[in-house]
Amino acid sequence: MSQRPSIAFAKFSAPQAAANKKGTAFVLLADEGGLSDAAKACDPGKTLERAFPVAEFTGKFASVVEVLAPQEASLDRLVAIGAGKVSGLDDYAWLKLGGTIAASLRKATDVAVVLDLAGASPSGKDAASLAAGILLRSYSFDKYKTRKDKDDGKAEPKKPVKVTIHMADPAAAKKAFTDAEAVIDGVLLARDLVNEPANVLGPVEFAARAKELEALGVKVEILAEKEMKKLGMGSLLGVAQGSPRGARMAIMQWNGGKPKDSPVAFVGKGVTFDTGGNSIKPASGMEDMKGDMGGAAAVTGLMHALAARKAKANVVGVIGLVENAVDGHAQRPGDIVTSMSGQTIEVLNTDAEGRLVLADALWYCNDRFQPKFMVNLATLTGAVMVALGQHYAGLFSNNDELSEKLTAAGQATQERLWRMPLGAEYDKLIDSKNADMKNIGGRYGGAIIAAQFLQRFVKDTPWAHLDIAGTAMGSPSNEINQSWGSGFGVRLLDRLVRDNYEQ
Ligand code: BES
Ligand code: MN
Ligand code: ZN
Repeated sequence: MSQRPSIAFAKFSAPQAAANKKGTAFVLLADEGGLSDAAKACDPGKTLERAFPVAEFTGKFASVVEVLAPQEASLDRLVAIGAGKVSGLDDYAWLKLGGTIAASLRKATDVAVVLDLAGASPSGKDAASLAAGILLRSYSFDKYKTRKDKDDGKAEPKKPVKVTIHMADPAAAKKAFTDAEAVIDGVLLARDLVNEPANVLGPVEFAARAKELEALGVKVEILAEKEMKKLGMGSLLGVAQGSPRGARMAIMQWNGGKPKDSPVAFVGKGVTFDTGGNSIKPASGMEDMKGDMGGAAAVTGLMHALAARKAKANVVGVIGLVENAVDGHAQRPGDIVTSMSGQTIEVLNTDAEGRLVLADALWYCNDRFQPKFMVNLATLTGAVMVALGQHYAGLFSNNDELSEKLTAAGQATQERLWRMPLGAEYDKLIDSKNADMKNIGGRYGGAIIAAQFLQRFVKDTPWAHLDIAGTAMGSPSNEINQSWGSGFGVRLLDRLVRDNYEQ
């Protein structure tokens, strides 16, 4: 990722001295009451304040005033960011302000951010969220660009960016940031995994990335084809059989809670590339299917976040990793496979493969861990995008309480969920003439039918399915994300665990 800024917190003192060198950007937060007396008294503050009327700047939330290379200072860039009414800002608003700051920095390598406001004094947690927003917004997937955007086309070395946040209580901010940074690292890991092309990241390589979480104290087991075959995972393996790149299942356990406490579980669809198989997809847009492992990426990013911040909870992450490719060994429409549950599935469309992978992953997870609940994430259907667009993920669940908790967590992190129905009328649409079920239904309600299919593999365990096809990749960029892979789900599930399941 490019130019990930290093973040430091410092006491609010002598901001001019801290900022008075070339290449420095000086950022002041201003609320609706304008600048604080101290900010007004320093030269950069004076310069900015003089610009407020012409810029029609009133401190409105996320508004920006910039002054470039003012004569009286050696600073390159002065920026005032509007914070609106500071007392009313929630966590997400602070992330957004951080994102707005990051967007205004351009090529500055030294940044002084001064959090001194006329009205309120931002807390350590506020400052940590602001810093987190800077990191989220600064992410860009450019590891394969050997030529940066210089006019002569020559490679431009990356310069380290240093952000210092000046405020009243830097010690509290530093402490809060340790926690926030753990979660951000999880989000950025998820983005990296989604953005990575499928020639580089197949099932085996993805499993190796999951294995790296051991460094954080996560217990990671990797099942290969042989073990999965022994367990009877014919549904998952049927999808993988058209690819030479193998199949893997990664089981990640973070045991930060009480020893005997049953875990909460997250399950992810990890189709590292989805050609559709024999029911092949059209060429146009097929490249996006490198992101068909967005569910597995979110689960892996979440496990990273929980372990890095030492969450006091027992959490299991299970991801099913396959490539849905097409060669002479690929499964055919009409094939009948036997899942680990013993239920048989008639595969009428090889492009409805995510549910086949999740059928075995969900069953395995439930069977082995008897979790308090299971939440699965999957870029499962185009139909969910038809229903909800790219601003909400579809939520399907057999449990109202879990649904409400998820919805609330999504509201807090702005990874929003919209609950969709399940029911017997939909369920019967996947009954099959030749097997226990088929993997597609009729013409309508495609996202619901996919969810009904999954429900046949969770018994009575509280369960929720998040269809993130519209939100994990290619969703509209915003203040805190400019990347194709959004990392959707990591902050949401971190919040779910944090707010409900930590002792
Ligand atoms: N991975 C796709 C769903 C998808 C589509 C994700 C677009 C992100 C963007 C999934 O495996 C799929 O192909 N679903 C089919 C199901 C159909 C064959 C019943 C679909 O949605 O068309
Ligand atoms: Mn598919
Ligand atoms: Zn797929």
